[in-house]
Amino acid sequence: MKIAVTGASGLIGGALVPALRADGHAVIRLVRRTPRTADEHRWDPQHHRIDPSVLADVDAVINLAGTPIRPRPWTRAYKQSLLRSRVDSTATISEALAAAAAADPARRRVLLSASAVGYYGDTGDETVIENHPAGSDYLAQVCVQWEAATAPAREAGVRVALLRTGLVIDRSALLMQVLGLVFRLGLGGRLGSGRQYWPWISLHDEIGAMRFLLSADDVSGPVNLTGPAPVTNAEFTRRLGAAVSRPTFLTVPRFAISLALGEFGRSSVLAGQRAIPDVLQKAGFTFRHQTLDDALHAARTGD
Ligand SMILES: NC(=O)c1ccc[n+]([C@@H]2O[C@H](COP(=O)([O-])OP(=O)(O)OC[C@H]3O[C@@H](n4cnc5c(N)ncnc54)[C@H](OP(=O)(O)O)[C@@H]3O)[C@@H](O)[C@H]2O)c1
Repeated sequence: MKIAVTGASGLIGGALVPALRADGHAVIRLVRRTPRTADEHRWDPQHHRIDPSVLADVDAVINLAGTPIRPRPWTRAYKQSLLRSRVDSTATISEALAAAAAADPARRRVLLSASAVGYYGDTGDETVIENHPAGSDYLAQVCVQWEAATAPAREAGVRVALLRTGLVIDRSALLMQVLGLVFRLGLGGRLGSGRQYWPWISLHDEIGAMRFLLSADDVSGPVNLTGPAPVTNAEFTRRLGAAVSRPTFLTVPRFAISLALGEFGRSSVLAGQRAIPDVLQKAGFTFRHQTLDDALHAARTGD
C-alpha cells in the first residue's frame, strides 16, 4: 500500500512509520515545515491547505496530527488549539481524500483517524464499548468534533476507522515518564479515589492494531484501541510501583490533583473509562500485551 501519515513525528507516528516500512508499505509523511527528504510533503492544516496531487495515488491515510495534550494549565487559547488543530487537520485530510475518491472512484481507500477514549467522558466502572454515547466534558466534545471532521471522506466512500486510543504505555510516553519519576522518588500513590479506570494499551499493540485495521476491510467507525484488561488507577499504581520496585502506599488527594493539574487533572487523571476493545476482538485482532504487567515489562525492556 501507499500510506500517508500525519503527525508522523509524534510518539505513535515515530514508531508507526518504520513499522509500516518494515511491512513493505511505501510511506509518505505530511509535515508542517519545509520538507527535508523525498518522502516528506508539506501541508498546512491550520489553513486547510494540501497539494491535491499528494493524496491522489494514496491507498491509506493515518491521521495522528494535533497539538500535544500536556499536563499544563488549560487556558482558553490552549483548549482552542487542542480542538482546532485536530478538527482542522482531520477536515483537511478528509476533504482531500474525498476529492481523490471523486477523481478515481475505483481505488479502495482507508482513513485511520486518531481519536481518544476521552470520547466517552467519565464513565465510572461501567464497561464501555464502541456504541457508548459521548461524554459532555471538554475532551469528550473535542473527540466528537474531531471524529465528525472525517465525514467528507466517509461520504465519498472512503472506509473510515476512528481510533479511540487509551493511555499508550511506552518508555517515552510523557505521562509514563512523569509517573515513573514520581514513583522513583518514592512519592507514588493512587490518584484521587483510585477507583477510576485507566484504559491502557502498549505501544506495540497500538501500532499492531493500526496495521491490522489497514486491511480489515469490514471494519469501520469507532474502534477502541485499548488493552483487553483495563485496570483502576489504584491497580495501575500498584503495578507500576512493583515494576519500578517502589512502595505505593500514598494517596494524592483529588483537590491536590485538581489544584496542580487543573482541567487536565480532572479530565485525564481523575476521570476514566473501563473501555474494552470490542470491535478489535470481534474482528480477530490478537493483543501481544494482554495485561498491564506485560505492557509495563515491554516498556522497561523493549520486549
Ligand atoms: N499517546 C497517547 O497515549 C494517546 C492517547 C489517546 C489519543 N492519542 C491521540 O493520538 C494522536 C497521536 O498521539 P501521539 O501521542 O503520537 O501525539 P504527539 O506525540 O503529541 O504527536 C502529535 C503530532 O501532531 C503534530 N502536531 C503538533 N501540533 C500540531 C498542530 N498544531 N496542528 C497539526 N499537527 C500538530 C506533530 O507532528 P508534526 O510536527 O510531524 O506535524 C506532533 O508530533 C494524537 O492526536 C493524540 O491526541 C494519543
